[in-house]
Amino acid sequence: MRTHLCGAVNTENLDQEVVFCGWVHRRRDHGGVIFIDLRDHLGLVQIVFDPDRAEIFALAEQVRNEYVLQVTGRVRNRPEGTVNPDMPTGEVEVLATGLELLNRAETPPFQLDDDDVSEENRMRFRYIDMRRTDMQQRLRMRSSIVSELRGYLDSQQFVEVDTPMLTRATPEGARDYLVPSRTHEGEFFALPQSPQLFKQLLMMGGMDRYYQVARCFRDEDLRADRQPEFSQLDIEMSFVNEADVMGITENMIRALFRNQLDVELPDPFPRMSHAEAMRRFGSDKPDLRIDLELVDLSDLMQSVDFKVFSQPANSADGRVAALRVPGGNALTRKEIDNYTDFVGRYGAKGLAYIKCNDLAAGKAGVQSPIIKFLDDPEKEDIPVTGEILKRTGAEDGDLIFFGADSTDVVNAALGALRLQVAADLNLVSDSWQPLWVVDFPMFEYDGKEKRWQAMHHPFTAPTVSDPQELKSSPGDCLSRAYDMVLNGSEVGGGSIRIHNSDLQQAALSVLGIDEAEATEKFGFLLNALRYGAPPHGGIAFGLDRLVMLMTGSPSIRDVMAFPKTQSASCLLTSAPGSVSERQMRELGLRFRRAPGNPDPS
Ligand code: AMO
Ligand code: AMP
Repeated sequence: MRTHLCGAVNTENLDQEVVFCGWVHRRRDHGGVIFIDLRDHLGLVQIVFDPDRAEIFALAEQVRNEYVLQVTGRVRNRPEGTVNPDMPTGEVEVLATGLELLNRAETPPFQLDDDDVSEENRMRFRYIDMRRTDMQQRLRMRSSIVSELRGYLDSQQFVEVDTPMLTRATPEGARDYLVPSRTHEGEFFALPQSPQLFKQLLMMGGMDRYYQVARCFRDEDLRADRQPEFSQLDIEMSFVNEADVMGITENMIRALFRNQLDVELPDPFPRMSHAEAMRRFGSDKPDLRIDLELVDLSDLMQSVDFKVFSQPANSADGRVAALRVPGGNALTRKEIDNYTDFVGRYGAKGLAYIKCNDLAAGKAGVQSPIIKFLDDPEKEDIPVTGEILKRTGAEDGDLIFFGADSTDVVNAALGALRLQVAADLNLVSDSWQPLWVVDFPMFEYDGKEKRWQAMHHPFTAPTVSDPQELKSSPGDCLSRAYDMVLNGSEVGGGSIRIHNSDLQQAALSVLGIDEAEATEKFGFLLNALRYGAPPHGGIAFGLDRLVMLMTGSPSIRDVMAFPKTQSASCLLTSAPGSVSERQMRELGLRFRRAPGNPDPS
């Protein structure tokens, strides 16, 4: 139907007869001449309708935004003074000799060049939103990234294998999406939270190197970088250790950035232990674009006469830490109050601070609500404050924030504050900062549930190989897991797996899963481990997150064609929706209560 793409004509096509298909982006009537900007996925071209050709001119007059046209014409130079250097096709225009109206369009719910459209409208009319250049570019970039990743893995002898969607629960820590079975009344499939167990079984099946662009389903609280349904680039390899998996996937990501963005990432990526990441950045996914660190003060605060600080400083799971904010002196009372509210969301009970006005002036040069508690108010000397200033490397014009609480609260609060302050004060460098976080604890204790939980997932190998050792001191065990972090976002996570059934049983028992339950839920895996399971390990990359970062998108929804809302619904199709009485009956299901009404029991 067409000879050229709208966005691809230029002076090389002068005097050629061309046929375009596309959408009406804009129509302008100019003293008897009609101009239409015709748009396709590549861009816009200007079409000129001359009143000399009465028939097509009359048709062009009827045309509205988003009408679908086929236009025949001849390419010519734009008249002097009307060249548009900002447009790839800006030197030329096309004088129309034919016009076919392929389809009409109702007035669109929003203008395509309006940057201020609500996300709700964009999602409801996604097929219109998707016509916008930036959406087109992001989805095309996504396709190109996936193709590049596949190419790399294919070249490294990886085999792509599909794994089932209708399966048993795979524990990745979220709630499952369940699918009732008609043929097995009262039983449910779970949609996979990841292909974790299947990819391990593939290694036991001798596949050696596997990958899959896999869809994962997790019913969890959504955030800007989380969707209930998302894609992983899922990878598993046999006869490997950490260095093998990290090495090959690091090369893959480096090649991806080189070829797609012309960015050379460091070789090798830096590595940091989980403990160091928490201590220095209060986060297991530190954003290394920000040159600010938490500074430990616990030892210094043990003997001060200020309970808010001395209590956590003397407690085994407490922490007192400081965060220096360069230029933070300029923060107003109101801004500091807002940051205090901000850290409150992470459980902090306050946000003490010191303003550094003129450090050479000693006590007179600092301003703070807490110095009087740290150093003797009767004296001119401020030895404790002086030590804080020294440790934080404070300079005139800085402000120092403090966190004092349980280690978890201090890390969460100051870790988040570090990111927020850096964003507000433009302290985030324009760079790419990848990082491997390693040496994770194997388990973390859930104080509320009073039980151990797997930090990664229950199939991750510990650094110890003795099942007894794992069971006797689970809190001291490190795992063989690794996370790839890029600019403060966890883009991938994986581990070397347990390949011994006794060790696997032990790991499950630490989690409170006894032998009977283990057999019921994971019997197939435990069995497979007994029939010659090779040592193996792998990783999964959050594909959407990777594309989000590489396209500079603020939301994961911007890199998905048909994303779900914050409340996990699809505005376009109105899913989830109700089902008929008959379907319910077939599935052997009945509501215990009318949907939306409280449970009477
Ligand atoms: P994990 O749970 O860490 O590991 O997931 C791997 C990566 O997937 C991405 N991700 C998400 N992206 C969007 N929305 C979500 N809700 C979401 N949840 C996770 C993250 C994360 O790093 N089976 C293991 C992998 C393995 O051990 O090999 C797993 O799924 O970028
Ligand atoms: P107060 O003694 O309650 O007046 O607190 C003195 C200063 O310490 C105030 O600036 C509070 O915001 C701050 N503060 C109180 N509790 C904490 C805490 N747990 N961590 C950090 N700062 C705190």
